[in-house]
Amino acid sequence: MAHFHGRYIDRVVVLTGAGISAESGVPTFRDAGGLWERHDPMDIATPEAFSRDPELVYRFYNERRSQLTRVQPNAAHKALARLQREFPGEVYLVTQNVDDLHERGGSHQVCHMHGELLAMSCTACERSMRAERDYDGRSACPACGARGKLRPDVVWFGEMPYHMDQIETRLADCDLFVAIGTSGLVYPAAGFVRHALAAGATTVELNSQLSDVTELFHHQHQGLATTTVASLVRELLGD
Ligand code: APR
Repeated sequence: MAHFHGRYIDRVVVLTGAGISAESGVPTFRDAGGLWERHDPMDIATPEAFSRDPELVYRFYNERRSQLTRVQPNAAHKALARLQREFPGEVYLVTQNVDDLHERGGSHQVCHMHGELLAMSCTACERSMRAERDYDGRSACPACGARGKLRPDVVWFGEMPYHMDQIETRLADCDLFVAIGTSGLVYPAAGFVRHALAAGATTVELNSQLSDVTELFHHQHQGLATTTVASLVRELLGD
């Protein structure tokens, strides 16, 4: 149990978005210079886009995957990993991000609701596997050998995010919900704060700007994630 704004906290749910990886040099989607400024998401991040122009989609995700080797986790990722290690109650981390910076920052439990850049899935045999290199329409599935059937194991617009049952169970039972670096524009993640409020949780938003759902949070700390996450973790751990 920890004391936070006058109440005992035992079960924390943390939701992260692209903003937590921004200071590592990973572009967000909707900030100036973001990914959706350079690409129309409907041309890239939908099943229809993949069947219309698979090579464009393979190239987009190959580039983002190879970029991961050039970036490092930042102080916000590391602070969350410390919270997961040292908090006397439970901390459940769910991320919309498909990068591996939470894991490389030391988090052992990470729920990737939008999938992972470092995974591919085969539409022929439906297996999911580690993505080890670049892929294109000729790549063969290492499991079943089918060619041209591999796709990035990320959740595209119009597809159901992963692990929603587990996430909703955690939200229904939490007493603190923290949203970090997410614009609150994409559902179902943008609605998680409502689930937390219905559970009677205290809600906190950490963002460099206001989000689309800021007014639903009891507390909003504006600033860079490397600063705001580290200070929230210190407060929760009673440093
Ligand atoms: N510190 C804190 N917050 C930041 C920082 C930073 N250094 N930099 C940016 N932000 C905030 C922005 O203010 C914005 O609210 O991070 C948020 C990034 O918003 P988006 O780019 O929309 O990213 P996200 O909310 O994760 O997008 C959700 O949309 O395209 C889909 O699947 C994709 O998972 C993604 C989903």
